[in-house]
Amino acid sequence: MANSSDTSNANGTPGPDVILSGLGIRRSFPVGERSLEILHGVDLELGRGQRVSLMGASGAGKTTLLNILGLLDRPTEGEVWLDGQSAWALTTQERARLRNASIGFVFQFYHLLAELNALENTLLPAMIALPHVAYRNKREEYETKAVSMLKRFGLGDRLKHRPGQLSGGEQQRVAIARALLLDPPLIIADEPTGNLDSSTGERVLELLFEEQETRRTALLLVTHDHRLAQRCERMVHMEDGLIQADSSHTMPT
Ligand SMILES: Nc1ncnc2c1ncn2[C@@H]1O[C@H](COP(=O)(O)OP(=O)(O)OP(=O)(O)O)[C@@H](O)[C@H]1O
Ligand SMILES: [Mg+2]
Repeated sequence: MANSSDTSNANGTPGPDVILSGLGIRRSFPVGERSLEILHGVDLELGRGQRVSLMGASGAGKTTLLNILGLLDRPTEGEVWLDGQSAWALTTQERARLRNASIGFVFQFYHLLAELNALENTLLPAMIALPHVAYRNKREEYETKAVSMLKRFGLGDRLKHRPGQLSGGEQQRVAIARALLLDPPLIIADEPTGNLDSSTGERVLELLFEEQETRRTALLLVTHDHRLAQRCERMVHMEDGLIQADSSHTMPT
C-alpha cells in the first residue's frame, strides 16, 4: 500500500482504499491568555487493513492526534476523512454515527463502565448504534456474538463480572471485544498495553493482532515498545507535533 498522496483522487478526496486520512491537521489549545499549538500540520493516511504503529516521545502529540483522527476532538485546522466521508462536514449526529460504526477504540486505561458487567460493556456499541426498539429486537443476536467473542478471549466464566472484579488484562480483553463488536473497519489503540505487565501485555497484543489480521481491520497503534512497533507493516514517528518519519517494511513471517 502506498503511503499518501498517490492513493488520493485528483480533487484531494481520499480513494476507496483509504480508510482514514488526516490532512494538514493543526491543533491549538488555549493556555491562559495564549494559544499553544501542539500539532503543526500533520498529514497521515491509513489504507484499509493496514497495521500502523505511531511512536514518539511523551508529549509529542500522539494522543492529541489520535483524538482528532478518531473524531473525538476537532482540529483547529485541517480535514479528517473516515471511510469516504469528510467528518467535519457532517452533523454532530451523523459524525457520532460514523464514529461508532467505523472505529473501535482501545485505551490504556480500558475505559469500561464500572456499573456494567463484561458482557454489557461489550454490548455498548450496539446499544449506542441502534434505537431502543431495534436494539431490543436484535439483542439476542448481539449477545450471541458478544458471548462467543468473550469466550474466545478466555473470558467465558467472567461474563457477569464488573470491571472492578477483573484483572487489568481481562479488562483490556473486554475493551477489545467491545471495540470489535460492530466489525469496524478501523481500530485505534492508544498504548493498549501501557498499564499491563509485559507478559500480560504481550498476550493482549497477540489477541488484538490476530483479530485485526483475520478481519482485515486497519489498526493505528500508539506504543512506546519498539518490538511491538516492528510488528506493524508501517511505522510512523512523531516529534514535537510533526511526523518525522514514516516507513513501510516487509513483515517478518
Ligand atoms: N487540553 C490541552 N490543553 C493544553 N495542552 C494540552 C492539552 N492536551 C494536550 N496538551 C499538551 O499537548 C502535548 C502533547 O500531548 P499528548 O497527550 O498528545 O502527548 P503524547 O504524545 O500522547 O504523550 P504520552 O506518550 O505521554 O502519552 C503535551 O505537551 C500536552 O501538555
Ligand atoms: Mg498519549
